[in-house]
Amino acid sequence: MSAEEASAGTEVSVVGKEEGEEQQVVNPWEVSAGKGGIDYDKLVDQFGCQRLDDALVARVERLTARPPHCFLRRGLFFAHRDLNEILDLYERGERFYLYTGRGPSSEALHLGHLIPFMFTKYLQDAFKVPLVIQLTDDEKFLWKNLTVEESKRLARENAKDIIACGFDVERTFIFSDFNYVGGAFYENMVKVARCVTYNKVVGIFGFSPEDHIGKISFPPVQAVPSFPSSFPHLFSGNDQLRCLIPCAIDQDPYFRMTRDVAPRIGYQKPSLIESRFFPALQGENTKMSASDPNSAIYVTDSVKEIKTKVNKYAFSGGQDSIELHRKLGANLDVDVPIKYLNFFLEDDNELEHIKKEYKEGRMLTGEVKQRLVTVLSELVARHQRARAQVTEEMVDAFMAVRPLPNMFG
Ligand code: TRP
Repeated sequence: MSAEEASAGTEVSVVGKEEGEEQQVVNPWEVSAGKGGIDYDKLVDQFGCQRLDDALVARVERLTARPPHCFLRRGLFFAHRDLNEILDLYERGERFYLYTGRGPSSEALHLGHLIPFMFTKYLQDAFKVPLVIQLTDDEKFLWKNLTVEESKRLARENAKDIIACGFDVERTFIFSDFNYVGGAFYENMVKVARCVTYNKVVGIFGFSPEDHIGKISFPPVQAVPSFPSSFPHLFSGNDQLRCLIPCAIDQDPYFRMTRDVAPRIGYQKPSLIESRFFPALQGENTKMSASDPNSAIYVTDSVKEIKTKVNKYAFSGGQDSIELHRKLGANLDVDVPIKYLNFFLEDDNELEHIKKEYKEGRMLTGEVKQRLVTVLSELVARHQRARAQVTEEMVDAFMAVRPLPNMFG
């Protein structure tokens, strides 16, 4: 038995329980940090995934003949499972497909929601491979207090934001579970379900006996897009095609389960490339919450709102007075504007310059925030322009069950 299989049954994703210390909880429905933010090192060890090191990033750069995305070169995508196997086959001239998704629980996406899609867009362009995007409207119906109709409406609205990230319609299939589940997809779901006991999902996801069985039976829905035979209109006759899943690390439990089951039903295990979480404005210890609009920047925010939120709420690692700041400099480890620039300021030299000047007290928090406001305003304006161009016909085109004309072109 592999380490992955050995541990898969016992991993309720809770780590760190020393005296007086808060527990860190990470699963698809709950992310809460102990003091000092998420301990990603512990998480990698706990989950049993692999660290994404510089050598692997260099290999991606070499194979794709383009600079690695800044999310990759800055360690924001920091963990993986068998990414090297995907690169091996790509190097041999073989291809794979990408799979990612979103649970459509809210109308407006915040910046954190865009990260996996921006990164997936880069992967699609760099490797020139097909992509399937799952909208789990059923998951949100089961977990949130939404009607079926509302979940479906949100899925379609969110599809527009996803399309606005620039995906190529000739290589991309977007589907909502309520519309697509059936046929070969459903056959794979029951194959998976028969391999997973109640005890096992309790171990992996932490379900309790009071949870309704809708939740308990959901994981196969998110598992099977990892298998090409779930998409006969795309991959018919290509049952062993490998799959790479870009996602935030909180989705890992689903795919631990998937990888555990795959060989038992004659399928390939999907590979994963996993990101950190995008911090709330208030800092790493808190999380962005749909109920507190001041905890996040939304893609629908105006420049004025962005300015106010950054200036008022972004946690600063600067000192309390200018005199003290000039003397001691900023604490970059807790500074939210720097963390945000680390995601979205593409120019490596400028980023390094700002970090150095700020850390050594020559640059003030206000100046860093001002730069951040510009960077975010540009990003959000670009997104809003792109989304305004997305028509209902385009959504229909991406979501049509059809062969993709240019899959590996
Ligand atoms: N469960 C995810 C969410 O709530 C949505 C999702 C479905 C997903 N399939 C995925 C995310 C694959 C990443 C990769 O957002």
